[in-house]
Parts: sequence; C-alpha cells; structure tokens
Amino acid sequence: MKFFVDTADIAEIRELADTGLLDGVTTNPSLIKKAGRDFIETVREIATITDGPISAEVVALDYDGMMREAEVLRKIARNIAIKVPLTRDGLKACKRLTGDGTLVNVTLCFSAAQALIAAKAGASFISPFVGRHDDVGFNGMDLIADIRMIYANYDYSTEILVASVRHPMHIVEAAKIGADVATAPTKVLMQLFNHPLTDLGIAGFLKDWQATGQAIG
Ligand code: E4P
Repeated sequence: MKFFVDTADIAEIRELADTGLLDGVTTNPSLIKKAGRDFIETVREIATITDGPISAEVVALDYDGMMREAEVLRKIARNIAIKVPLTRDGLKACKRLTGDGTLVNVTLCFSAAQALIAAKAGASFISPFVGRHDDVGFNGMDLIADIRMIYANYDYSTEILVASVRHPMHIVEAAKIGADVATAPTKVLMQLFNHPLTDLGIAGFLKDWQATGQAIG
C-alpha cells in the first residue's frame, strides 16, 4: 500500500520523506490556505522533495477553466497529478488530461457510482473521502470495499486513494480491503509507529542492559 501525506506543510513533508514512508503528496485549497503560502511555489517546492505523485487541485468549475488551470499546474513538474472534482466537467477534463498522459486524481467521491464513472473517464486515482462519509452516518469503509469489488470486476487500473483519513484504523481497514493508496495527515501517519507495548519493551530491555554494565562498541 502506498502512503501519501495530505498536507501542504513543507516541513512536515520533509520529515515524512526522512522516514521512508512517503510515496506522494495530496493538497487541496483548504490545505493551501492553512499553509499560508503561494500555491504554485509550494507545489514546486514539494516537487523537490518527492518523485511520487503530487496532487494539485484546480478551482475552476467549468471544463475550459479547469483545462487552463491544469495547463499551469502540470508544467510545475513531471509528477503533478491534476486534482479535479467529481462533476461532469471534472470528468470531461479528466478524460482529456489522462488521454494526454497527465496524471489525474478525481476528488470528492462519495459513491460507488461516482467511482465507476471516474474509472471510465480514465482517472489515475479516485479519492473517496472516508472520514467525511463517516461524519454523516455512513460507513466510509463500505464504500472502499464496493469500489474495490467494482474495479476488480472490470480490471480498471484506476487506483483507489483513500482520503479524509482520520485515524490509523482507517488505514488498516483500507489495507485489508486492498486499497492502493491512503492519504493521511502527518499526525495519523506518525501514529502508525506507536504502540505502548513497544515503549514498555524498550524501557525494560534498556533497564536490564544497563544492569549488565556492558557497552556496544
Ligand atoms: C484528499 O485528497 C483530501 O485532501 C482530503 O483527504 C480531505 O480530507 P478532510 O476531510 O480531512 O478535509
């Protein structure tokens, strides 16, 4: 399973790259606002840190506007994935862009029907938002399982990019279903390292080691 980080914070991306966990980055307009920096500059800097896909989202709602913005964004680096919303114009832009060999991440997916038509439009990634789905009383993971089954039935190569991840179990459940990618905030990716028994075990070994009076090297 690939891990993308869902942030536009350069320091966080660098830190994750150092762990070896980082396979790509997703951004969105809200994350750009939170980072408080110029969008294009930020994406350009992210591209110096990772060779993995970097999702940069268009904000135009019409096809022509999306294509104009995509043209600017895809010139930033070879690994930019243009993020388009799951709308008619978004999927039209998706079809055109992937036809030209550009990576496209179709975002704001909330149903299996939407995921099906995104795959038919040739999307490189489909982003179902599990956390926001859970928030309104649905089970986000049921959606991931449905999409996995549908894509397997027809051998679609669109990668399932589980988004709106809120906690480590979202990642574990997505991995059990066989999702291709999870994008998560830095905090959630860092939580994957933690287990209290690991900390206790280290403390116990260290205490006993000190009692031996030995040193390595
Ligand atoms: C996906 O690419 C989105 O950026 C993201 O996962 C949104 O998640 P949120 O529900 O935490 O805003």
